[in-house]
Amino acid sequence: MDNRNNTIAGWVLFAGICALGLSIGSGMVFAGHNPEKPGFPIEDADGGAGGGASAVPLPNLLAAADVAKGEAVFAKCAACHTINAGGANGIGPNLYAVVGDEIGHGRGGFAFSDALKSHGGTWTFENMDAWLASPRKFANGTKMSFAGLSSPEDRANLIVYLNSQGSNVPLPAAEAAPAADAAAAPAEGAAAAPAEAAKGAEGAAAAPAPAEAKK
Ligand code: HEC
Repeated sequence: MDNRNNTIAGWVLFAGICALGLSIGSGMVFAGHNPEKPGFPIEDADGGAGGGASAVPLPNLLAAADVAKGEAVFAKCAACHTINAGGANGIGPNLYAVVGDEIGHGRGGFAFSDALKSHGGTWTFENMDAWLASPRKFANGTKMSFAGLSSPEDRANLIVYLNSQGSNVPLPAAEAAPAADAAAAPAEGAAAAPAEAAKGAEGAAAAPAPAEAKK
């Protein structure tokens, strides 16, 4: 009798261990599948909105910009421009306090081209960024013979340097981190900044998964 009871107890114990193993095993299977579901639509959104829209917004580039690096970039401008207060006009106008100033006017009577004189507006950060990316695109017919700076980081560094020379216009507020946007509204966040948003969203989507698995 005792032996039989032990045998039964043994089987019950064995069955329990099997059930435990099964539940651990299935748990692992589900755990392995979970991240795929939340990740899929994000990848879809990334691919759909793709095509170069992943650029970092200018305010964020400016917020991360380095004045000293910008001063080094200004070496490319110094052949034609001075930037000290009261500096002489050369091939190009003196650039002291140019950020925030009128486009193509003033500058100690510098003889601007019609293209720049008639452009209108002021040197906002956006305008300066577009001008430095391609002067000819910004003001077709400009006499500034400079091809442009292709690196957004170089331009941002240069712009904060220009701004530090007599302008000191407050920098625009950097846009909220894409990850926060993506967590709040995945579709919108992904559309606004696909690459970053998708990365952030994957992290955000992966986090709630364990909680869902327990339901
Ligand atoms: C080869 C000479 C040359 C170089 C190099 C050059 N510029 Fe110019 N720049 C000019 C000339 C000429 C003008 C006037 C353009 C016009 O009237 O169309 C000008 C105009 C400008 C203006 C407009 C000023 C105003 O008051 O509207 C800015 C800003 C400027 N340059 C910035 C720069 C920066 C920054 C660099 C370096 C990345 C640079 N330039 C490189 C010749 C040059």
